[in-house]
Amino acid sequence: MSESKGKRLWGGRFGQGPHEFMERINASIGVDKRLYLQDVRGSQAHAAMLARQGILSAHDAEKIIVGLDQVRAEIEGHKMEWSDSLEDIHTHVEMRLKEIIGDAAGRLHTARSRNDQVATDLRLWVMDACREIDAALLNFQRALVGRAEEHLGVIMPGYTHLQRAQPVLLSHHLLAYVEMAWRDRARLADCLGRVSVLPLGAAALAGTSFALDPASVADELGFTGVFANSLDAVSDRDFAAEFLFTLSLVQVHLSRLAEELVLWSSMEFGFISLSGAFATGSCIMPQKKHPDAAELVRGKTGRVLGDLISLLTVLKGLPLAYNKDLQEDKEPVFDAFDTVLDSLLVMAPMIETMHVHAERMEMAVRHGFLNATELADYLAARGVPFRVAHEVSGKAVRLAEERVCTLEDLTDEDHARLCEGLEVELDDGLKQALDPGRAVDRRISPGGTSRQNVEAALKEARKRLWPKGSEQ
Ligand code: ARG
Repeated sequence: MSESKGKRLWGGRFGQGPHEFMERINASIGVDKRLYLQDVRGSQAHAAMLARQGILSAHDAEKIIVGLDQVRAEIEGHKMEWSDSLEDIHTHVEMRLKEIIGDAAGRLHTARSRNDQVATDLRLWVMDACREIDAALLNFQRALVGRAEEHLGVIMPGYTHLQRAQPVLLSHHLLAYVEMAWRDRARLADCLGRVSVLPLGAAALAGTSFALDPASVADELGFTGVFANSLDAVSDRDFAAEFLFTLSLVQVHLSRLAEELVLWSSMEFGFISLSGAFATGSCIMPQKKHPDAAELVRGKTGRVLGDLISLLTVLKGLPLAYNKDLQEDKEPVFDAFDTVLDSLLVMAPMIETMHVHAERMEMAVRHGFLNATELADYLAARGVPFRVAHEVSGKAVRLAEERVCTLEDLTDEDHARLCEGLEVELDDGLKQALDPGRAVDRRISPGGTSRQNVEAALKEARKRLWPKGSEQ
């Protein structure tokens, strides 16, 4: 049995200390010490409000606030002694405060429970985390746009089913990921709105008999709203689940890009070379250069999705209001945040430093009949029903395949024969239609890959990502 009974916040009712294994499973300090700053800030705001409401003397509030500053400084100076017997960050902070300022510390917890306290701390932490991920996403977008501007004009195969489909601009491809990141950022902003609701004042579950002023605490801590129902306030972890879903989708987007970087840097594609700074070698095969950073971003997606499922599973069977299961909410949140932030931090410079082999991309566009649609469109534009034109173009592909040549290599006679029986005048435009550059530039429909569209998209992206007056 543990000796430390007297240091608990709830010892009064118990005749004995907890079993050592109880203490071990109960302790969350190894995880929730990351909330120390939020815990100190939340407590200071609470104490100040209690004083404003006349619940606490100005003198005691002052002592508490100054004492908490010292606790924070000690934690930051690595002077805090962590112990499983003190369970969690809230107990550590309060016990240390008591050692520093004496009995006044015992008044801090007036009209508060660890249930509303922990929810407040975690929300404060997630609010900061949303902003940090957003900044990393912005940086990632800038990296993509920078390379897209630099390589405007480079044509590559666009794929469906991982089969070469139609030529597109590399810049268009990169900008697709910029769009995903915009949506990720919009989701984060939306999530932040629901995270920023103060639960402090709900106390254990029912509210309190003290006349609190939660709105002023919300103002002080940067929350934009205050809870409406005390039971909901202490048991709601929707905000954490939403945050984890948003992070999951960010990571899934990164994983798709990572997969492309792995493919593109393979000898089979040869579209890019990754900087050696983001690769590793093989300990047996001297020629190898492995795209490890991209593989790890892809691989770590599993744990982020696992974090989301883990939290949802914790929540699914919980009756109202607080249950200790909720202590399991923090680890997935911290883990997903760390993983996604690291992934964003590595992806941006990896994109910035990759070498683009434009000639390899353009060569790939010339093989695989990526202009077969152009031929069909050419005929359709001259009155041939598209289904018939599609058939003719398919036959042309078969003929070229037999001859091991490209569609451009087929002669005027070949084309005339293929179009036999159709009322259509073939002209010089046919050869021109087959040119990949022109194929790209004809894609002028909104959001299409034409150079004109992509240039406009880049201009717009530059305006949004480097607004006037922003740093650099
Ligand atoms: N460490 C706890 C958690 O993270 C704090 C809340 C404890 N509340 C309680 N009633 N035991 O959930």
